[in-house]
Amino acid sequence: MDPISVKPNVFYVGAVDWDRRLFDNLVPLPDGTSYNAFLIKGSEKTALVDTVDFHMSEVLFEYLKDVDRIDYVIAHHGEQDHSGTLPKVLERYPEAKVYLTPKAKGIFMDLLHLPEEKFVTVQDGETLSLGDKTIQFIHAPWVHWPETMFTYLQEDKILFTADCFGSHLASSELYVEDECQVYEAAKRYFAEIMMPFSGVIKRNMKKIENLNIEIIAPDHGPFYPRPEFILDAYRHWIYDEPKNEVVIPYISMHGSTKMMVDYLTAALMARGVTVKLFNLSDGVVDIGKLAMALVDPATVVVGTPTFLTGPHPNVAYGTFLINALRPKVRFFSVIGSYGWGTKAVDVITGMVPNLNKAEILDPVLCKGLPREEDLKALEALAETIYQKHKENGFV
Ligand code: FEO
Repeated sequence: MDPISVKPNVFYVGAVDWDRRLFDNLVPLPDGTSYNAFLIKGSEKTALVDTVDFHMSEVLFEYLKDVDRIDYVIAHHGEQDHSGTLPKVLERYPEAKVYLTPKAKGIFMDLLHLPEEKFVTVQDGETLSLGDKTIQFIHAPWVHWPETMFTYLQEDKILFTADCFGSHLASSELYVEDECQVYEAAKRYFAEIMMPFSGVIKRNMKKIENLNIEIIAPDHGPFYPRPEFILDAYRHWIYDEPKNEVVIPYISMHGSTKMMVDYLTAALMARGVTVKLFNLSDGVVDIGKLAMALVDPATVVVGTPTFLTGPHPNVAYGTFLINALRPKVRFFSVIGSYGWGTKAVDVITGMVPNLNKAEILDPVLCKGLPREEDLKALEALAETIYQKHKENGFV
């Protein structure tokens, strides 16, 4: 297996993981993923750009079988899916030095137990010459760890972006062929990994807007030969106002909460509001799809029955994720049911401190099966949501 040419003397040496179905033991990977790594052969020096997840290290070494010397390893990001094979690379190429941000050095030493003398820290904007090729370092913190950076290969106009702009998509095609398919995978990836850091990503995107970029090469998924495709997508996801949409993650135990969710859904649809339901039952919900749905909506309404006076644990789990993902929602509410007493609303609303720009709308809880007055309260909630969306220009 020979390295795959991307540009003259720039090669793909990464690994496609067709079988992986979970990342971080949490994030579903319906289409697998890839760990992209690159070999750049300059006229004087050779650099390896990132490595691969440890369990696929043999793929990287197969690509490198005829490479006798590596002078530099460019380490964009410390997470083990990209750094995991670095210790073995340094064993095989003891002459290599690892170039990374000052913040990354400590992280790499903690995670990989590599000696300090292996590392060379680089400042933002600094360059490294390989002879006829020049690598420019661009600090890009918080995509999605604090130590991350991009690099720009000046002569070949390739921007390597670590996790940013990536997609969990195993493919034999190195470049994006079907933009619709990649849009979906990249949006899902943005929602799961990048959305909590949208504010910082805005700043990082400003740093690259004057570069002449022919290819964006992230560390996961296909590369972008039309960089504006993914840059525009990120601009929409980060900058656009929320949409006239309501996401309702819910669960039901004996049917009352489901009746309420269905009633609210119909009342919102009658007002022209888009509704996306996510049943949080085990084995039903795809949390990646829930995350993706949270990129756009103006409102989230959580639906929960009462379990031991609090929310159903699956709903608490879903609410924890929503809070962690920090979507740009402006309105938040809770609906649900209880048998004899409940603190579900207090618990749920106390779990979303990161949604500090969201107004909490009056919740609707019913005792037992919903009665006429409960349905009227849901009708009123639907009307309030619609009016709020309208007043804010989301309709
Ligand atoms: Fe793909 Fe944050 O590692």
